[in-house]
Amino acid sequence: MSLASVIRSEHDLLVPTYDRQKVLFEKGRGVFLWDTRGYAYLDFLSGIGVNALGHRHPAIQRALRQQASRLIHVSNLFFHPYQAELARRLTRISGLDRAFFANSGTEAWEGALKLARAYARSVSTNGHRPKWRILALDHSFHGRTMGSLATTGQAKYRDPFGPLVPGVSFVRFNDVGDLERQLDASVCAVCLETIQGEGGIRPVTADFLRAARELTRKSGALLLLDEIQCGLGRTGRYFAYQHYEVEPDIVTVAKPLAAGLPLAAILTTRRVARAIDPGMHGTTFGGGPLVCRVAIEFLRVLEGSLAHVNEVGDYFREQLEALKRQSGSVVEVRGMGLMLGMELDSSRLAQEVVVQLLRRRILINRTSETVLRFLPPYIVEKKHVDRVVRALAEALPGTRRRPGLPRRPTSLRRSQR
Ligand SMILES: Cc1ncc(COP(=O)(O)O)c(C=O)c1O
Repeated sequence: MSLASVIRSEHDLLVPTYDRQKVLFEKGRGVFLWDTRGYAYLDFLSGIGVNALGHRHPAIQRALRQQASRLIHVSNLFFHPYQAELARRLTRISGLDRAFFANSGTEAWEGALKLARAYARSVSTNGHRPKWRILALDHSFHGRTMGSLATTGQAKYRDPFGPLVPGVSFVRFNDVGDLERQLDASVCAVCLETIQGEGGIRPVTADFLRAARELTRKSGALLLLDEIQCGLGRTGRYFAYQHYEVEPDIVTVAKPLAAGLPLAAILTTRRVARAIDPGMHGTTFGGGPLVCRVAIEFLRVLEGSLAHVNEVGDYFREQLEALKRQSGSVVEVRGMGLMLGMELDSSRLAQEVVVQLLRRRILINRTSETVLRFLPPYIVEKKHVDRVVRALAEALPGTRRRPGLPRRPTSLRRSQR
């Protein structure tokens, strides 16, 4: 099957939601993907942060094979051995007490919003309207379903689908004064990504996050952190909020949780979880034996990977900072661990750089128009970073070509699979 025929078929058969890069992948291993012509690509996007252990990780393959040969799905009407075990591991690393399993980031976020409303109702006293308003942040992204869209602070995602869920207001990013002004007694939840992903790899400031924690504690609102992109080791700690020493009431995780299979989780406190009774919330697929078993394996491998994420992440960041010093087109380097962004001074340049890197068989993407986003797998090594940095040096105006960069990168030749 050729790329051209797949493009034609998709054009005729799919709802046109995606503007895909013209590459047809058929196989992956480690930090590399191979297209159908046999060319190897260095994967610095890992399926938007999903393939955190790279492709075909042996421990994941083993767990997947073993479990697939035993039991894949039973529904949440029955028990299986792995949900509680996965919840035990997630609560231990997060400092929270309870878990609920869903299938995608947006579904977990919807559940988190429902939980916040249910909690507000459960603690409201006779005669008082329960707290119900939700504060989210400008430039945020929480997913594509109606509640997630309603809390997403970017007009381009929201506008085509209104009217959305009512009761949501947006606070200016990292603006403590604006948060103070808007957080009144009617607010049941303050929502934020600890590091905004789609919004351009923007970490929330420690001042803002600590203020959000203090103000919500005083008012009785909940603090909801969306760590779907920045959680589970991506920043060099299990959770990005652990860099800030803040304890949230609800956290959502998804992307890397089952190393490529669809699985998400809501984590919360014992106190908040008490607001939910059987039948109030649920899902058919969420937390099945196959995905939970693989996620347990992911967390086991993750435990030994955090030091590596920190080491390579620091190295990568230093290299990107060095490029910034050379090129006037680089506005800022942001992020933590292996969640890094490089903001350029024009969206056209950012797009061109992504295309140039793709020509050199390196996968990254552009987010928020001007930001190059890097989400490599946690198994990436310094030599892979060097290759990306050399390619960036060639693509960015004003940078010196790095010694050792072949005119025609070896990756352009067919690699052995
Ligand atoms: C921070 C954040 N929240 C929510 C989502 C939605 O996740 P999903 O696409 O799995 O529904 C994403 C996806 O990119 C995300 O980055």
